[in-house]
Amino acid sequence: IAATAADEIARATGVAHHDIALTLGSGWGKAAELLGDTVAEIPASEITGFTASAVVGHSGSLRSIELADGRHALVIGARTHYYEGYGVRRVVHSVRTAAATGAKTMILTNGAGGIKETWKPGSPVLISDHINLTADSPLEGATFIDLTDLYSKRLRDLARSIDPSLDEGVYTQFRGPHYETPAEVQMAKAIGGHIVGMSTSLEAIAARQAGMEILGFSLITNLAAGIQKTPLSHAEVLQAGRDAEPVISDLLARVVAAL
Ligand code: 6GU
Repeated sequence: IAATAADEIARATGVAHHDIALTLGSGWGKAAELLGDTVAEIPASEITGFTASAVVGHSGSLRSIELADGRHALVIGARTHYYEGYGVRRVVHSVRTAAATGAKTMILTNGAGGIKETWKPGSPVLISDHINLTADSPLEGATFIDLTDLYSKRLRDLARSIDPSLDEGVYTQFRGPHYETPAEVQMAKAIGGHIVGMSTSLEAIAARQAGMEILGFSLITNLAAGIQKTPLSHAEVLQAGRDAEPVISDLLARVVAAL
């Protein structure tokens, strides 16, 4: 089914091979503009296995972009979240499709809550590792794959060469769609988490299985429940994304150019 989707993308975009793929989460949507020239933009709903995103803040499109050096990037603006209830296969379909288009590098981005009190909302951070609290996996059967260095040290170092101020942290994926309770945030902190979110980990596992090198970014849209003193709202998350847009778009474009 990923191979079918990749064929459809090749036909719809006229681009037979993509070198890298990016999933743009909350706040990251505008980054596509700066990467290069858009060769084609198609509604994700026209491609097998993709659904028009149910979440405000996601564009719902797939874009093929030609970078300045001639490489092609597939920009995925349609993420299926685990909490939508379609099952884990649907969640990782975009990543498997990206791999089937030829992409060797997968950049996963999201908007997420910060546990580190020193983080300012609107700051991007690198994902150094994850804790998958969904109790699910995109793999079935005896697929005992290694997840060491899942979020490539090489690519994190490269990102820091572009922006030395980038901090990093362990992304903790909860099922959602509700935000965590303050007690759950304390649990995440106690087990080594620094970021709380509702995506990315399952996608990273599928990307590793597909042999891709992975780079992960979280935009800290707010501090997690109990860390920040005010209640969380999706509107606040979206606003932080809009405010951070120019800075993170520029960062992503420079990182992609340097890959
Ligand atoms: Cl605090 N938690 C989760 N799970 N996702 C988020 C978030 C928090 N803030 C933005 N996205």
